[in-house]
Amino acid sequence: MTTTIEATIDLAAELDASGAREVLETLDAELIGLEPVKLRIRQIAALLVVERVRKRLGLAAEPPSLHMSFTGNPGTGKTTVAMRMADILHKLGFVRKGHLVSVTRDDLVGQYIGHTAPKTKEVLKRAMGGVLFIDEAYYLYRPENERDYGQESIEILLQVMENKREDLVVILAGYADRMDRFFASNPGFRSRIAHHVDFPDYGDQQLMSIAELTLAKQNYRLSEGAKAALARYIALRRAQPHFANARSLRNALDRARLRQATRLFAQQRRDLTATDLMTIEAEDIQASRVFLAKAEGPHG
Ligand SMILES: Nc1ncnc2c1ncn2[C@@H]1O[C@H](COP(=O)(O)OP(=O)(O)O)[C@@H](O)[C@H]1O
Ligand SMILES: [Mg+2]
Repeated sequence: MTTTIEATIDLAAELDASGAREVLETLDAELIGLEPVKLRIRQIAALLVVERVRKRLGLAAEPPSLHMSFTGNPGTGKTTVAMRMADILHKLGFVRKGHLVSVTRDDLVGQYIGHTAPKTKEVLKRAMGGVLFIDEAYYLYRPENERDYGQESIEILLQVMENKREDLVVILAGYADRMDRFFASNPGFRSRIAHHVDFPDYGDQQLMSIAELTLAKQNYRLSEGAKAALARYIALRRAQPHFANARSLRNALDRARLRQATRLFAQQRRDLTATDLMTIEAEDIQASRVFLAKAEGPHG
């Protein structure tokens, strides 16, 4: 009688050795909130580790389909998470290079007959070995145009997503409702997407934490007055047009730094300290147009 002793596997050690755990930890640390997204990414990473070991043991039948859709409003972290995902896929050996090529319809679809196929193929060539991130992917499909070249691009993409999946992962990104409609009219796409990840909007408190984290990384801080002003800013800005979650906050902070610098110059003091140079004051926030009458423009 023969007894076979099975080799044992330690998945946690696999994750450590690949370096992918470090990427997951970075993702946790650099992004405030997004708990459901972080959970989904950890699940996908677990699947990848298991796949990898199964492949090594000769248990994997065919390369897994890893194409994904990231849905959510602007500024909710889709691009940032996609870059980390590319890194994880690379560390676990699912793509050769791990770079991210981010495109929109204009990069894929030409204006004239015969231009679309070469454009799409050139983008695919650049993305091979990494992740192709198609932002606002639904714009590829324009049924209202009688002869739309988007369809040509879609057909090439679908083919490559099927045939080259051992070396290219496609992530489609955009608003959830439009993506739903896009999938409804493009079942070929829907069936090739293995993982759907939904990015929720940030709450006021989360946006506040994102602001503080962003500033701390740049060695800036908010005074107590500036904190209160920013809380009011967030509540107002959210209700105005073109609000883009964390991106709107980032832009607001860039402008606050500009105002801080201008204020410090205007003071003409010769005794400024590091603390002065680090501190954003309430007036640096309050000068934003967001605080003006609602009739004013959306930006500031
Ligand atoms: N949860 C978060 N914590 C900290 N910064 C964030 C968070 N989400 C987004 N950001 C920042 O906001 C900006 C916009 O994010 P991005 O990934 O481009 O969003 P999207 O692709 O969904 O429009 C980036 O600078 C990003 O680093
Ligand atoms: Mg983006």
